[in-house]
Amino acid sequence: MTVCLEVEKVTKHFPHRRERVCTLHEVTFDVHDKEFVCIIGPSGCGKSTLLKIIAGLDAPSTGEVRLRGESIEEPHPKISMVFQSFALFPWRTVVQNVEFGLEARGVPRPQRRKIALELLEMVGLKGLENLYPKEISGGMKQRVGIARALAVDPEVILMDEAFSAVDEFTAQVLRSEVLELWEETEKTFLLVTHNLTEAIEMADRIIVLSSKPARLKCNVPVHLKRPRNRGEPRFLKFQKELFELLREELENTIVRHKLRAVHAHHGLEDMEK
Ligand SMILES: Nc1ncnc2c1ncn2[C@@H]1O[C@H](COP(=O)(O)OP(=O)(O)OP(=O)(O)O)[C@@H](O)[C@H]1O
Ligand SMILES: [Mg+2]
Repeated sequence: MTVCLEVEKVTKHFPHRRERVCTLHEVTFDVHDKEFVCIIGPSGCGKSTLLKIIAGLDAPSTGEVRLRGESIEEPHPKISMVFQSFALFPWRTVVQNVEFGLEARGVPRPQRRKIALELLEMVGLKGLENLYPKEISGGMKQRVGIARALAVDPEVILMDEAFSAVDEFTAQVLRSEVLELWEETEKTFLLVTHNLTEAIEMADRIIVLSSKPARLKCNVPVHLKRPRNRGEPRFLKFQKELFELLREELENTIVRHKLRAVHAHHGLEDMEK
């Protein structure tokens, strides 16, 4: 397998009241071509910061991120991002939002419109292209965000808690759609999530970060056959093992309140006793 992204000893300090607070400490991992990697870690540990650094939207204090050996120092044309809060332009229609990156790259209008319409069809939004973001649901907005990220034909798609701002039913539909898109497009996906079940359902590999400052706690391959079913004994067994591994980290953080819903859904309460 070819290495696509290298995150090497990435450390990030932020200034805080005349002090420097360390958010990420020497985080190192590789992502291979066409891999689906999930990054999981406690709330506030630095996941979004790490993703922004990988996207070239922020710089590490020390360390480096490389795409095929090339250091990322600014937003890279081959890396796209999907945001938790969609980040759509309210004054642009659905199709104009999807066209944004192509427009910025100077792609002529007929060509970019064609690409945007094809992608909107791919994410199931055909016929809605002339609506404005305020006229569509959260799930649809995230589909627009995904189509916009794909429009520039990136090699790597970064997703920051991409299913957290929609209801659980919509989130489940979006997860399976994203997995289909991943298989269809053969691109590399990196998803940040606080949801362990989501990570197991989607990832080839799970990168676990510790609480602040975030260090790499473990890097676990997921060998479960796809499509994965959350109710399958092998899924539940793996989930239980990973939960045990993370218990200490989770108990140390305020992620507990976020996980409560997951416990309720998947009978994890027993494991906490
Ligand atoms: N621009 C900034 N200036 C100062 N501190 C920042 C900045 N961005 C992030 N931080 C701090 O870095 C830490 C990590 O933030 P980050 O948003 O990366 O965490 P996270 O793991 O994504 O959290 P969540 O699970 O809530 O999304 C937080 O303590 C935050 O206050
Ligand atoms: Mg975040």
